[in-house]
Amino acid sequence: MYPILEKRELSPSVKLFVVQAPAIAKKCQPGQFIILRMDEAGERIPLTIADFNRQKGTITLIFQEVGCSTRHLGRLGAGDSILDVAGPLGQATHIEKFGTVVCIGGGIGVAPVYPIARAYHEAGNKVISIIGARNAELLIMEDEMRQVSESLHITTDDGSKGRKGLVIDPLKELIAAGEDIRLVMAIGPVIMMKSVAEVTRPHSIKTLVSLNPIMVDGTGMCGGCRVSVANKNKFACVDGPEFDGHEVDFVGLMARQRMYHEAERIEREAGSC
Ligand code: FES
Repeated sequence: MYPILEKRELSPSVKLFVVQAPAIAKKCQPGQFIILRMDEAGERIPLTIADFNRQKGTITLIFQEVGCSTRHLGRLGAGDSILDVAGPLGQATHIEKFGTVVCIGGGIGVAPVYPIARAYHEAGNKVISIIGARNAELLIMEDEMRQVSESLHITTDDGSKGRKGLVIDPLKELIAAGEDIRLVMAIGPVIMMKSVAEVTRPHSIKTLVSLNPIMVDGTGMCGGCRVSVANKNKFACVDGPEFDGHEVDFVGLMARQRMYHEAERIEREAGSC
């Protein structure tokens, strides 16, 4: 069992757990994820590791309540335990000194981008961060991102925090201003990552995206997380989760993401969530 030591509500639908998981905390690297199962009947939920503390043996998980399983998970609190936490899974982010790196997090995607931005910062890069959300209430980890960034741009869809607009707006301005961007790392909704890749493509700016498709086993066996990258099938759980944003088939990915929406709706309406 994996005890939850701390729970925080970052917004009404976004929860943070600090979980005792010493073996994972010892080995995990920025960019990696875990798969948890709340209980025997629980669905397997992939979550990126938002932070870790090797001394304390803890990992930090941040998730948004978007479906039945994450809603059930959100009802747990400090003192409760999670049945299984498997990980660390996936390939770690390649960290080196590139120069100027733009880290973009949209919505809950700010959580996984934070340890990556921190690692780039610690490696001596000039980190410029852009974080965005639908509104101020849904914006998370502003202070953490500010600490690891030379400058931080904030956007919200409704203008309730930062500037009104999309995360690609400051990115376009940085490019237009001649900022020598060597790498863009974008994590968030698929449509956001697609938009970022379209902005950087004409400028040949290397762009990495971290994909979070439907996962089951997390070991490359089930094929659930299949994505097409450069016209080749890849498994996000073992080959990723990071891929070259200019090579990902985002349209196919969005279609696969929608596969279970109807089942989720039926469950919700049946009152089983
Ligand atoms: Fe099964 Fe990746 S989750 S192959």
